[in-house]
Order: sequence, then structure tokens, then C-alpha cells
Amino acid sequence: MRLNVTVNGEARQADDVWEGESLLYVLRERLGLPGSKNACEQGECGSCTVYLDGTPVCACLVAAGQAEGREVRTVEGLAEGDQLDRVQQSFVDAGAVQCGFCTPGLVVAAHDLLKRVPNPSDPEIREALAGNLCRCTGYEKILDAVRLAATR
Ligand code: FES
Ligand code: FES
Repeated sequence: MRLNVTVNGEARQADDVWEGESLLYVLRERLGLPGSKNACEQGECGSCTVYLDGTPVCACLVAAGQAEGREVRTVEGLAEGDQLDRVQQSFVDAGAVQCGFCTPGLVVAAHDLLKRVPNPSDPEIREALAGNLCRCTGYEKILDAVRLAATR
């Protein structure tokens, strides 16, 4: 199929797409957007989290055909040109990135949380990020980053 999808505000097309391949594969391999990471490919780790019509989803669980005509926003689409989004900048400033594999998904999940809850409590942050696994940081610096972003 030819896939038509709006990605980060831009109308994009990909040809010869198999309807059942994942949106994550389309983004990374066909549209040149490697920000969303492929770690588990089964909805367990959250590293592939993107917005689909404004709702965070695991892109590895969305079939390409399901994305037809819809709007996707990836971690690349959060920045304004060279200006990082406040969540992205806070992850940098708080030292919340080690290997970085989990980071794009956590950034999107935290971005969504702060849209819904501008001043989240620690339990609210933990709840919002519960679907995003990090093997490196022990999560403390990630919590610091979200708390910092909430102040900005
Ligand atoms: S790669 Fe999608 S949830 Fe892990
Ligand atoms: S920084 Fe390595 S998995 Fe989170």
C-alpha cells in the first residue's frame, strides 16, 4: 500500500508498505526518523512511544495500515527547530540520559503528562512513566528531569 500519514506536521508518503508492518518500522526505516527506539517490539518497554492523533502509543504495536490518514508526532517533532522542548532540555540538564535507549519514549510520556497535569506529584509522575522501562538510571534522575520540566 501507499501510506499517507502526517508526521511532525508534514504530510508524508511511503510506498510499498505492508499494512501489517509496524508504524515504528515505517518511521525509522522508511521515513528517516530514528528517534523512536526499537527495544522490545512487543509493547513492554515504551521506548517507541509516539503521539498518534495526540495520544501516546507504542509505535511497535500500531500497524502501518492503522496509521493511514492520521497524525503522528515523534520525539523529533517536540523541538522547535534548534530549540529543545522543555522536557528534552530537562532530561539533558538533570543528567537523566545514560545509554539513551529509553529516553525518547520517556520524553514523549513526560511531555504528555505535563500537558495534562502541569504540576504533577511524584506518584503521578511514577504512574505516567510506569510503561517506560529504563535499565540504566534507576529512575531518580528521570524523576528529577520531569520535576524540573514542570517548573519551566
Ligand atoms: S519497542 Fe515498542 S514497547 Fe518496546
Ligand atoms: S538510559 Fe539506558 S535504558 Fe534508560
